[in-house]
Amino acid sequence: MSDSVAITSGKGGVGKTTVSVNLSIAFQKLQNKVLLLDTDLGMANSHVLLGVNPTNNLSSVINGNKKISEIVVKTDYGIELVSGGSATSDLLNLENKKRFRVLNEIDDYLKNYEKVKLIVDVAAGAEDNTVVFANACGRIVVIIVGEPTSFVDSYSLIKTIYQKSSFKNFCILVNQVENSKIGKDLFKRFEIITSKFLDVKLHYVGSLNNSKKVKDSIINRKPLIITDPNSDISFSFKKIASEILKTPQNEWGGLSFSLGKKKRA
Ligand SMILES: Nc1ncnc2c1ncn2[C@@H]1O[C@H](COP(=O)(O)OP(=O)(O)OP(=O)(O)O)[C@@H](O)[C@H]1O
Ligand SMILES: [Mg+2]
Repeated sequence: MSDSVAITSGKGGVGKTTVSVNLSIAFQKLQNKVLLLDTDLGMANSHVLLGVNPTNNLSSVINGNKKISEIVVKTDYGIELVSGGSATSDLLNLENKKRFRVLNEIDDYLKNYEKVKLIVDVAAGAEDNTVVFANACGRIVVIIVGEPTSFVDSYSLIKTIYQKSSFKNFCILVNQVENSKIGKDLFKRFEIITSKFLDVKLHYVGSLNNSKKVKDSIINRKPLIITDPNSDISFSFKKIASEILKTPQNEWGGLSFSLGKKKRA
């Protein structure tokens, strides 16, 4: 079974793509093979940060013209990338059978490898998208920032996933904070609000400081964890990766749930 992590957020533009790319490299450094699936249709797509230009995307797999192995792009940093591209919206509108066939193909591709991780950069805002991809992953990371709108949207996101999948475990990453104490405090506030109304377990996996280095890394099209591995932020990425691995996987997690292979215990 491939070991998978969905990177989501209630609100757009809070750092999903930045986190997905740097965390993928951090996981790879922890001796995993990593496939990053970019289902984000935003501007700062993963391939921009990774400095590659995928010529194919999931559309060819959906059409049955190509296999996953033929559209995977290798990057200079060891991780592999599959671009959802315009197929992301196709994937959402597909009938379940076809959608699961695509997810199944990804899972089969990953089964060729040991210690493999699938990281999914999930576009914010689209409820269906979030649920489809979050349901297919064993772990879900929700990125929050210290703004009321982020709290409200993240709460709704967790509620939707919980109601549709009965997943109880959510990893929370607080981005763009001044220091780690503020990050932890924001988490506690968010946890108090959430646990009042939802029977879910939130796991704090860390915070990332607001840093110009992050912005520069996007302009330079090079992941910070590569160009500045000893910076505080790179250290935070590595710590967050290991904290995520300590959290329990959701009971129904993994692609086999979506594929209908797995029965509830
Ligand atoms: N810790 C940080 N410090 C400073 N800037 C940050 C940090 N994290 C993210 N950013 C900046 O925030 C912006 C949005 O980041 P990113 O594209 O990763 O977000 P996203 O959630 O993927 O957005 P979208 O919802 O559009 O896909 C980028 O310009 C990025 O440089
Ligand atoms: Mg993005």
